Amino acid sequence: MKMRPPWNPCPVLLPACSFRRLLKMSSWHDYPPTTMSEDQNQPPYASPELYGLPSGVTERAPGAERRIEAQAKVAGHAVTELVERFGSPLYVIDEESLRGAYRRLSSAFREEWPDTIIGSSVKTNYLSAVQAILRSEGAWGEVVSGFEYRLCRDLGIPGNEILFNGPWKTDDDIRLAIEEGATINLDGDDELERVIRHARDMGRVVPVGLRLNMQVNYPPWDKFGFKLESGHALEAARLVTAAPELELCGLHMHVGTYIPDPGFYGRAVESLIAFGTRLERELDCTIAHLDIGGGYATRNTLHDTMLPGEAITATAEEYAAAICGPLRRAARQFKKKPRLFIEPGRILVDEAASMITTVRAVKRMAGQQKAALIDCGVHILPTSWWYDHELRPVEDKGGAIEDYRLVGPLCMQIDVVRKSVELPALTAGDLLVIQDVGAYNFSQSMQFIYMRPNYVLANASGVELIREAESDEYVRTPERLPAHLINDETSGSFLAGRDAR
Ligand SMILES: Cc1ncc(COP(=O)(O)O)c(C=O)c1O
Repeated sequence: MKMRPPWNPCPVLLPACSFRRLLKMSSWHDYPPTTMSEDQNQPPYASPELYGLPSGVTERAPGAERRIEAQAKVAGHAVTELVERFGSPLYVIDEESLRGAYRRLSSAFREEWPDTIIGSSVKTNYLSAVQAILRSEGAWGEVVSGFEYRLCRDLGIPGNEILFNGPWKTDDDIRLAIEEGATINLDGDDELERVIRHARDMGRVVPVGLRLNMQVNYPPWDKFGFKLESGHALEAARLVTAAPELELCGLHMHVGTYIPDPGFYGRAVESLIAFGTRLERELDCTIAHLDIGGGYATRNTLHDTMLPGEAITATAEEYAAAICGPLRRAARQFKKKPRLFIEPGRILVDEAASMITTVRAVKRMAGQQKAALIDCGVHILPTSWWYDHELRPVEDKGGAIEDYRLVGPLCMQIDVVRKSVELPALTAGDLLVIQDVGAYNFSQSMQFIYMRPNYVLANASGVELIREAESDEYVRTPERLPAHLINDETSGSFLAGRDAR
């Protein structure tokens, strides 16, 4: 039986940003059926759900002119010229913006705690040019694999300026990190044992940090490290201090990613301080560094959140105050003032990158919403699964605004870059700029149906290619065609001459 949805009498329970969607409800019958309460005298309860009217009709009063701001340039360069030169889709890093983000974060923290080192989270953006720029600003490297470690070394970052984290490090990677004096943060008991074994083989005493996980947010990131509340972390610290091959010199945490509330960090740092000072008192160790990890949010808006990212995200100064305040207050409790490491990823790179994309077709979907098919799919913009990315048309077209679903070129129904976004009427050939795409989009991208495009770096002196668009050969080169599959038809294949080993 279909029920009238309960009208929520309390306006604060209605998400402010969903008000517009509420206005679009065509009738109560748009709501799904709810079950009648057992007691027929009780009003039925259904949690309030808001449904958008899937018609694409805007509800604005006639004459209420609204324009979607256009963006003709990226990093000071005309988008049309960038596309002429490098094609579409095109990923653009704005060098000045990247440097600006690093400097803002660095000065916010150094102001509060001068001995702060920024370890750039390499996994957040694998582009060498990006990491080289951050390095030139003074960043160390934060890595979670041998690949990332070698990338840093290749860019000239010495091993002793690398923070080596992650739930699994290979034996070769551990030995290299020991050899080169990287800061190894132990993630679990097995790794602890393996590092002891390698240190013994190599005749070295290895300074190590312990990664902790703790209950400050939900769900906790308890796949990593030693649990603080259960006593596991204390047990691990005892094992480390008892091992002649190891020296306990730091504590590490990374409580999650995209944490807009600096209060989480404040609480976590207080736990870290209490634990670190206890270890110094009870065990023979000096906690020379505290590593707070990354996770600082950007202005991107997560799906289904009530307010835009910009409205809820803390500033670099607020994160710095939340982390360094407790540290300053507790500084004297440590044997010596610990060095502070932070491992930012997204807050450094997210806002420095844009994706330029072209509308290739416009369709109307079953629900009557319009769909614009763009040449950038989720294979090169995987953060579409988390964010409602801000985007702008390149040309200021004016005219009516319509509700579009932006879909990518992949043969998957889930290839959706924006479920619903208001844009001026689009036609094939129109260019769009998707903003703030610097974090995780290249490192988590994949070749699927379409290749990865050109990646360029833009600055005041010009625009340079920093990663060439992939070709068929690039993708197929690692493949081999076994001898029994080489026949009259396949003998001409690009793969036929390759050694099958
Ligand atoms: C250990 C560690 N440090 C730093 C980061 C960077 O996180 P973010 O890009 O959210 O700042 C991550 C990412 O998950 C991480 O696992």
